[in-house]
Amino acid sequence: MIKLGIVGLGRLGKRHAENIAFRIQNAELLAVCSIVEDEIKDAQKNLGVKYAYKDFSEMLKNKELDAIVIASSSTEHCKQIEEALNAGFHVFSEKPLGINMHEVLRAREVVGKHNDKIFMLGFMRRYDASYAYAKKKIEEGIIGRPFLIRCYGLDPVKAVQGAIAFSEKSGGIFLDMAIHDIDLARWYLGSEVKSAYAIGGCYEYPEFKKYNDADNAVALLQFKNDAIGILYVGRTCTHGYHIETEIVGTEGSLRIGSIPQKNLVTIFDEKGAVQECVSGFLERFDQAYVAEIQEFVNCIIEKRKPKVGVDDGVMSTKVAYACKESFESNKLVIIE
Ligand code: NAI
Repeated sequence: MIKLGIVGLGRLGKRHAENIAFRIQNAELLAVCSIVEDEIKDAQKNLGVKYAYKDFSEMLKNKELDAIVIASSSTEHCKQIEEALNAGFHVFSEKPLGINMHEVLRAREVVGKHNDKIFMLGFMRRYDASYAYAKKKIEEGIIGRPFLIRCYGLDPVKAVQGAIAFSEKSGGIFLDMAIHDIDLARWYLGSEVKSAYAIGGCYEYPEFKKYNDADNAVALLQFKNDAIGILYVGRTCTHGYHIETEIVGTEGSLRIGSIPQKNLVTIFDEKGAVQECVSGFLERFDQAYVAEIQEFVNCIIEKRKPKVGVDDGVMSTKVAYACKESFESNKLVIIE
């Protein structure tokens, strides 16, 4: 049984904690940590955890633990990864790896020094059944050579107040949201990005301006193998949570999530034939959040490296940061 401690019990951390407590095999949720007292109390009451901490360093003194899951604010990830690895634990960290190049490069160095420990990054879309199926189909060659990826990553407008509150610590729309699409683009196209141009703005919510952020933005990427990436990210989607990806190849194309259907039900009423949409990331990627933590636990047990590691964190941050720089300067950014 792998004994896990989690830091961060917010929107996503709470779900990870519930999954570890009830849905992950060969794992036990032994400890939780959050700076929010009520979140700790809820976890103790509902998840029956043995240990609860307000201070991360205190949790790391608990040597009954085998591994740490980091689901704290993005600004905390790199520091906590380093502290947890140095304290002798395996580490799973939520995306993004960090919010600037300096700290992600440092994290890569630290992960490298602890090669005997498992380190995994939470790019959960790779563990979503449909995304994984599309990858398999591309590898089988059914669309020929992929040369273009088009991604929509749209958060529901219903969640916009949370996004505004989160903006100060999120790293901005590219590091927070487009980073998932950047990871998918690298994964599907099998190449790294060589240049990025990004534009966007605060079309509905000027509140994001305070953090040099946008409520909707687009990035155009060119890859080293000359493939093209078109990413659209937004926080004002009226119909729900719309994650859509299209990969175009020389012999065909694949689309994942063209209509972000909630399920297979169509409602016929005075509005016509209505298919309801997925409401948010917890609903859309429910299975993927379980699968990625299960993979982390399996990797610890089987002593093998996960497919999503620190290099994916460094490369995706580099590209997201280039998009941010381009958005702020209105210039094409060449990535070294
Ligand atoms: P949130 O703001 O709802 O929760 C943050 C949590 O971190 C809170 O429990 C807070 O107490 C805790 N925390 C922050 N600093 C801490 C510290 N120094 N020590 C102990 N606890 C600390 O944030 P949310 O939305 O849950 O996001 C958390 C992370 O997960 C972010 O990095 C975000 O980018 C990522 N995320 C990933 C998603 C995915 O689909 N993979 C979806 C949503 C979030």
